[in-house]
Amino acid sequence: MSERKRIALLRKELANHNHSYYVLDKPLITDFEFDKLLAELQLLENNNPDLFDKNSPTQRVGGELIKGFIAVKHKYRMLSLGNTYSAEDLYDFDIRLKKLTDQAFEYVCELKYDGVSISLTYENGELVQALTRGDGTQGDDVTENVKTIKSIPLKLQGDYPEIFEIRGEIFLPIAGLQQMNELRIEQGLEPYANPRNTASGSLKLLDTKEVANRPLDCYLYYLLGDTLPSNNHYENLQKAKEWGFKIPNEIEKFSTIEQALKFINKWDAKRHNLPYEIDGIVIKVNNIDLQEEMGYTAKSPRWAISYKFKAEQVSTILNEITYQVGRTGAITPVANLAPVQLAGTTVKRASLHNADQIAKLDIREGDKVYVEKGGEIIPKVVGVELKDRDLFSQLTAYITNCPSCATELVRKDGDAKHYCPNRESCPPQIKGKFEHFISRKAMNIDGLGRETIELLIQEGLITEISDLYQLKKEDVLPLERIAEKSAENLIAGIEASKKIPFERVLFGLGIRYVGETVAKVLVKHFKTIDAIINSDIETLIAVDEIGGKIAESVNAYFSEDKNLLLIEELKAAGLQFVSTIEDTSKSDNLAGDKIVVSGVFQQYSRAEYKKMIEEHGGKNVGSISKSTTFVLAGENMGPSKKQKAEDLNIPMISEEEFLAKLS
Ligand code: IVH
Repeated sequence: MSERKRIALLRKELANHNHSYYVLDKPLITDFEFDKLLAELQLLENNNPDLFDKNSPTQRVGGELIKGFIAVKHKYRMLSLGNTYSAEDLYDFDIRLKKLTDQAFEYVCELKYDGVSISLTYENGELVQALTRGDGTQGDDVTENVKTIKSIPLKLQGDYPEIFEIRGEIFLPIAGLQQMNELRIEQGLEPYANPRNTASGSLKLLDTKEVANRPLDCYLYYLLGDTLPSNNHYENLQKAKEWGFKIPNEIEKFSTIEQALKFINKWDAKRHNLPYEIDGIVIKVNNIDLQEEMGYTAKSPRWAISYKFKAEQVSTILNEITYQVGRTGAITPVANLAPVQLAGTTVKRASLHNADQIAKLDIREGDKVYVEKGGEIIPKVVGVELKDRDLFSQLTAYITNCPSCATELVRKDGDAKHYCPNRESCPPQIKGKFEHFISRKAMNIDGLGRETIELLIQEGLITEISDLYQLKKEDVLPLERIAEKSAENLIAGIEASKKIPFERVLFGLGIRYVGETVAKVLVKHFKTIDAIINSDIETLIAVDEIGGKIAESVNAYFSEDKNLLLIEELKAAGLQFVSTIEDTSKSDNLAGDKIVVSGVFQQYSRAEYKKMIEEHGGKNVGSISKSTTFVLAGENMGPSKKQKAEDLNIPMISEEEFLAKLS
């Protein structure tokens, strides 16, 4: 046999063994035999560099050192899921969906794996890219690290689409974490606390060899593409299993929400027997056309939801209540606890939310309290064991003045929290403002960390964000712990931040309710800071995804002279206040139109038509109503939909008619 042939044979055979071992959990040969074959292949490949294949089984062992991760735009946005916590929430979800369609539909229930989500792209049956979720719009390219995960196929078998994406969860099985920790303890290192954080940390390692050593695994649960094998989610996953993917077996189809609830309760009871962690159940509409019809909100699909299991609880002693001042001046009461183990981590502090919560639960220092870890990272106190309360315990008196600057606290109607109104000179607020501004998702200023910020504030070098841009190397050199090199880095980092796009500058300003997503929406819509400053509350609310609370907050922020002055100073310093978000609009031929896309099309895919609608100023809506402008109707449009359009006199137009409207 020629070396070329032998290489091809070994590659195929080793890929099959990987599949049997890591996906099917049914090894056909011993580890020793596997290693022998792999060594043979490695040798042959070394002798035949011209036959290199980036997806050969030899490429799974890692070895390459990555310099950093490149951010890549997702072809399909990576959404998250809405959460529910009770049967009642779930019934609401069911009712909501039934209002969106009059077609009968099935639910698919899956376990909700607690790991990191990943999006894999395959072209012609080969893995070409693996992206993390990132901010949903763009993620980090972690392909080299993902290739080391043995249950992820590098090459597919069978009848797969030419191009598609498949999404899933990378996780560390519980035994995998244990195995890693045993080794760490032997080496005198601190063991890792929980599987999710360790999985996510592993994906971001720069040493692929180290990643290859970590027993990561991956379940896939969502297929995307223009030419999927089936029009339902369940079938697509079964097909994907045939192509070689690790698809969970714990997946079931149901025709009622009651059955879904039974599935949930079954797994709530059984979840602790699983070899990996799950934090809930995901419920999805099976039919993909219907999914499209039901559509999406800004952050998540309407056609799916996650049911979160009740979090683990433990009891411990509340030693002291202290108060934290956030960057917006919001006061958070904090429970300082006798350390206790909870869901894999040691908990010493927990949130008490606000004064009402303390009063409602009558939480007091010295109490035995129940602590719970929900979806949030910070655990919270959820109850008090009254029968264990000390006879002399004192009712908690909520503070009336800022613990940091002693200013009297205020609490506005409708606000759950107390605020320190001293925005100008309350130290944690100033610090918080800067920390937010320089943070990774905002200005991401290299060479400037928390401690330096603290120093700069202490020395009176900065009080307002704009002061950063006046700093010179000579100003910072005299500071303690700042050497020549770090002073240079700091100034260079600040200089570089002037190129950060407008939406991140806007986010960095720290306007209440203006998070990353809202900042993007505002910039996309208004394009310049002046347009935002000059918009009134009505104009703001008219923007999709901007509600009353946000509009009022934005308007209030730009009504203050001191904030306007800040913007002027930042503009003068050279920061970006004009949108660079690519303008994808092509015409306003469909401006104001609300359009339903339904059926199967010949010339373009449904997704492409939806994109065109947006590019020409129209709006995609999920279901037909009185306000629908027209239906773009393909073949096999659902009969109930057709009937509804006819009943309401909504025009149904063909692909050709639609395309004619655009030109
Ligand atoms: S489907 C558009 N299915 O949960 C639907 N997600 O809270 C995309 N997750 O970002 C998600 N198990 O990382 C889906 N069986 C499952 C899942 C699952 C875990 C994660 C995923 C997602 C997050 C949402």
